[in-house]
Amino acid sequence: MATVLVVGGGGREHALTWSLGKSPHVDRILVAPGNPGTASERRCKNIAVGADDIAGLVAAARHESVDLVAVGPEAPLAAGLTDALDAVGIPAFGPTAACARLEASKPYCKTFLDALSIPTGASASFRDPDLALAYLERLPSAPVIKAGGLAAGKGVVVAETHGEAAAAIRAMLIDGRFGEAGSEVVVEERLWGTELSVLAFSDGTDFVVMPSAQDHKRLLDGDGGPNTGGMGAFVPSPVATGALIDEVSDRIIRPTLDALGEAGTPYRGVIYFGLMITDAGPKVLEINCRLGDPEAQAVLPLLESDLFEVMLGCAGGSLDGVAVDWSRSASTTVVMASAGYPTGSAPPMPITGLEEAKLEGCLVFHAGTERIDGATLAAGGRVLGVTALGSTLAEATERAYAGVKSISFDGAHYRRDIGRRRPPEADRSAPFREPYIG
Ligand code: AMP
Ligand code: GLY
Repeated sequence: MATVLVVGGGGREHALTWSLGKSPHVDRILVAPGNPGTASERRCKNIAVGADDIAGLVAAARHESVDLVAVGPEAPLAAGLTDALDAVGIPAFGPTAACARLEASKPYCKTFLDALSIPTGASASFRDPDLALAYLERLPSAPVIKAGGLAAGKGVVVAETHGEAAAAIRAMLIDGRFGEAGSEVVVEERLWGTELSVLAFSDGTDFVVMPSAQDHKRLLDGDGGPNTGGMGAFVPSPVATGALIDEVSDRIIRPTLDALGEAGTPYRGVIYFGLMITDAGPKVLEINCRLGDPEAQAVLPLLESDLFEVMLGCAGGSLDGVAVDWSRSASTTVVMASAGYPTGSAPPMPITGLEEAKLEGCLVFHAGTERIDGATLAAGGRVLGVTALGSTLAEATERAYAGVKSISFDGAHYRRDIGRRRPPEADRSAPFREPYIG
């Protein structure tokens, strides 16, 4: 029987922990640092090691004789956690730092894509503000300005005018907004179309595409308000047809993985392509080196195979021998956030109704919760993700919202339109064209 160490403490990591807990091969799960939700899962214990503490994580993995480390967030991957575990012979699910650079450095990602002629918006990268502004002046339309490094999803400005783009360039390169992450910027052609995230398990050679989840990045119904980490997700996405996934696999995923393998840095873990489906076909907006959150909370409950076996297959380069089967059900995750999210904070508030939501048939994944004196409190940010499955998207969505309605805490807010937008086929006169963000 195996011990797994899950790294991270959000809803994605609770979903990973819950899914790993179903494996007959796993008898102990440690989560660093975890949250009250992971602590309440069977055979699971939180340990007080931060997700960014590479030395502490390696020491804990050795001390606890861990058989597999499953890494949730990008920062420890970019900082070399997988490399450090490789060096002591512990299998890790998650790419090496060389591969994670595709997420950690947008200039590198653009150079990589361009060198392979993988479709992506035309771009140039700059450290010098004068050169960036001179390039901007020559562009016929306003581009997108991106901080080069990891900026917690906030480093992208989709400018409406050249003036806005210039202001973003100055903020990053002159005023030091985003610090080191903004010391190089990508000036990228704005693309138009529908956004789609395509995620795959990869063992370096073989890959398996997951059912596509549609994220809802904006705070408010109808895609209004500021960007957030993600307010909900649903599967299946009406945009992700078989033909489109085949095209993405052939033109984007296959060449990416082949190039990394040929460079001696095979990609092992989840690779996540943020795409714009344009009139000229799918183009890459970004590559992430991990599962999305909340997408993972909607997708992982659909995995019928053993996640532990899938992860070991990815880590060991033997995915082709592992079954990766998915339920044909639909899945909806609605995120409940604290007052003030995404900009402000809120004092801890008691949560009621968690058991009732489970009785409605929902899975309740914790993110920003705390447990004090036996009570579960909302502790700010994204607090809970409520997931339900159903034979149709409408059924999954109704069930998830029934769960949400039974839960309450002061200041709780959530979107009411997750999984409820009309697919494009439904009404040609009202095309499905609003961006959704992966
Ligand atoms: P990224 O982190 O690069 O995926 O960018 C975050 C969000 O900004 C994306 O999900 C898109 O909504 C938007 N975005 C990024 N690049 C572009 C682009 N070239 N054209 C239009 N929108 C973009
Ligand atoms: N939900 C988007 C992300 O995890 O990057």
